[in-house]
Formats: sequence, structure tokens, C-alpha cells
Amino acid sequence: MKLLDKKTIEDLLHCAREARKAAYAPYSGFCVGAALLSCDGRIFKGCNVENISFGVTNCAERTALFTAVSDGCRDFEAIAIAAGDETILPCGICRQALAEFSPDITVICAKKDGYERFKLSELLPHGFDNFSTKEKKPNV
Ligand code: THU
Repeated sequence: MKLLDKKTIEDLLHCAREARKAAYAPYSGFCVGAALLSCDGRIFKGCNVENISFGVTNCAERTALFTAVSDGCRDFEAIAIAAGDETILPCGICRQALAEFSPDITVICAKKDGYERFKLSELLPHGFDNFSTKEKKPNV
């Protein structure tokens, strides 16, 4: 596990801002970048990828997460999110997606000067975390 010291946080914020440069956001014009730090010290970047069919859009956070999971990584320490001068928090879908792997991950939101820091458990205190396959109804 990599210590979340000042230098690591600065690296993550830098990577999130770099990732943002690749954002594909022709419909909203709102570009977002994310940088996800795994417990073994790797950093995975992601940007938002929009689509003409709006619901297909993928947020920066999930792009980073799915890239990491596809590379065999499932334990995460922190995620930094950068959206230019605006400070944003991850959307509900991204909170739930991150909680699947690391419910206690630190969320670092870039600010114009500095950052704000949260625990995912603060941002998603009552996420969906269990279901019984036995209760599944057959298809009609
Ligand atoms: N977006 C993200 O990438 N991350 C968030 O946490 C919130 C929203 C993207 C989705 C869409 O491309 C644009 O920002 C406007 O909602």
C-alpha cells in the first residue's frame, strides 16, 4: 500500500489533469479527468467519453476504474478528479462502481487552488451491497 502523502496526492492531481486533456465531451463541453491509485502503487487514468446517445456516456472515474480492473487491479487507495476550475464530486453511479472494489477509497477533488478530500463511505453511506440470487424472479 502506498502512503497517501502530499507528493502522492500532487502526482494524482497532476495525472487527473493530464487525463482530462483526452476527454471526449462534444455534447456537454464539460471535460473531466480522473487518476486512480491502486494499493500496489499504480496509477490508472481516465476521461469522460460522451456519446450522441447520451446514456452511453462514461464518466472519467469509471473509465479509470474499468481500465484498472481490466488490467487485473481490484484494490484502490485513492482517486483524484479534475474538471478544470470547477470542483466536482463523483456521480452516484461512479460512487457505486468504486464501492464495489474499494468502499473506503479516498476521493480527492481538485480545486482551483488545492483540493478537497473525502472518504467514499462519506459520499455513499448506504450503497447497495448485497442481494440474494435466490430471490431472483424468473423472466416473464
Ligand atoms: N462527468 C464525469 O466524467 N464525472 C463526474 O463525476 C460527473 C460527470 C461527465 C459526464 C459527462 O460527460 C459530463 O461530465 C457532464 O455531465
